[in-house]
Amino acid sequence: MSRNSETILIVDDSPETRLLLKRTLSARGFTTHGAESAAEAVALLNQTDVDLVITDLRMPGASGMDLVRHVRENLPGTEVMMITGYATVEGAVEAVKTGAEEYLAKPFTDEELFAAVDRVLEKLRLRRSLERGGEGAGRFGILGESEAMREVFRVIEKAAATKATVLITGESGTGKELVARAVHYNSPRAKAAFVPVNCGGIPEGLLESELFGYVKGAFTGAAETRAGFFQTAEGGTIFLDEISETSPAMQVKLLRVLQEREVAMVGQSRGRPVDIRVLAATNTNLRRLVERGQFREDLFYRLNVIALELPPLRKRGNDVLLLARHFARRFAGEFDRPLPLFTDRALEVLLGYSWPGNVRELENLIQRLMVLSEPQRKDDRAVIDAGDLPEHLRYCVNAARGVERSLAEVEAEHIQRVLEAQGGNKTRAAAVLGIDRKTLREKIKRYDIPD
Ligand SMILES: Nc1ncnc2c1ncn2[C@@H]1O[C@H](COP(=O)(O)OP(=O)(O)OP(=O)(O)O)[C@@H](O)[C@H]1O
Ligand SMILES: [Mg+2]
Repeated sequence: MSRNSETILIVDDSPETRLLLKRTLSARGFTTHGAESAAEAVALLNQTDVDLVITDLRMPGASGMDLVRHVRENLPGTEVMMITGYATVEGAVEAVKTGAEEYLAKPFTDEELFAAVDRVLEKLRLRRSLERGGEGAGRFGILGESEAMREVFRVIEKAAATKATVLITGESGTGKELVARAVHYNSPRAKAAFVPVNCGGIPEGLLESELFGYVKGAFTGAAETRAGFFQTAEGGTIFLDEISETSPAMQVKLLRVLQEREVAMVGQSRGRPVDIRVLAATNTNLRRLVERGQFREDLFYRLNVIALELPPLRKRGNDVLLLARHFARRFAGEFDRPLPLFTDRALEVLLGYSWPGNVRELENLIQRLMVLSEPQRKDDRAVIDAGDLPEHLRYCVNAARGVERSLAEVEAEHIQRVLEAQGGNKTRAAAVLGIDRKTLREKIKRYDIPD
């Protein structure tokens, strides 16, 4: 355990306790300071950077509780731990309420002390790594350190080296377009065009001429020959986004392109060979659409040569924090503000939330938080606490650890979602939930769900 490098301030009016704690903690690599009163501690904290304050509860003068309050209010980067010989339930409750991260009752063993210190500092380290994080924590401009994302990077790397068609799947907002660009810009065709086409966003009637181009006189209004996306992508990559939205007729035409590697403009009878790399993406389960007869099986196999599945954000562990910091840094730059400071409780909420909108939802949330959180003085860092996060995130704590959630938590979250989906209409929400309005009203009140 010689890797400990944090600074700990020990506050106790008993010189023996101070010395003992200093010796024990120094042996573990910590830098230690001592203070015999809360007042001396405050003076020292003004001059020195301290990571953790371990304070006695009862001391002459200001109490340990006052010190905890002082640190909580003035030093958001410092953790506090309370030690006392007067272990009472009330004392413990109050210590935690005031903001002490840990509460240790005398007498305690060295092991108990180290365990408590480790728990507190783990959070601190997480937050620190987060502040540093972002730079280089990922590849191809895609952030992520989780095993799930490392696998994605491996597939991108392999796919980029080939000309094979890639089907990118993943929930909305997981970064499919980002990945498509990464494949193209790391491939030998990086210098040629990357042409994204939103198949779901172009009206059916237009999609064909947009994709394939048309020759003069092909239809009324075709005053001159115009290139389509396929011609523009010659030598480069075409990205067919939302591929599941294409009509059966369009699916046949795309299949022909992938089979023959030829493209015919609208109004041309014969196709011309093209050198185009095809990437496609969808946030629906294409295989299921195939089973239901809503998507051509042959086209599915032509697209799914390399399958690249993006994990939802809730399966990426601490990447959530990495991304949160990255977006915070980006918006801090845009708004010309210092980086905000996330409290441990806020981080826990972010980690526990299920992120149905994935990275995009996180990006939007951080942007909104930074707009709303006004620091007291311009150069101060805004502090973002759990209470600053939207309600539906807080109800979702522990979603990642799904088996540790209480029924009430799940119920509150579900009610909130149904209410949102019904535009706040309680009669309709009650009907969906299968309960009467009175019960719904009671639950809304009990869980403090905003109207
Ligand atoms: N791993 C990541 N690192 C950094 N930014 C990311 C990451 N993943 C996604 N983003 C950002 O999140 C936003 C959404 O990503 P993107 O548009 O690629 O998602 P998508 O899967 O195509 O979503 P949709 O299904 O809604 O089209 C973008 O602003 C993107 O830059
Ligand atoms: Mg997209």
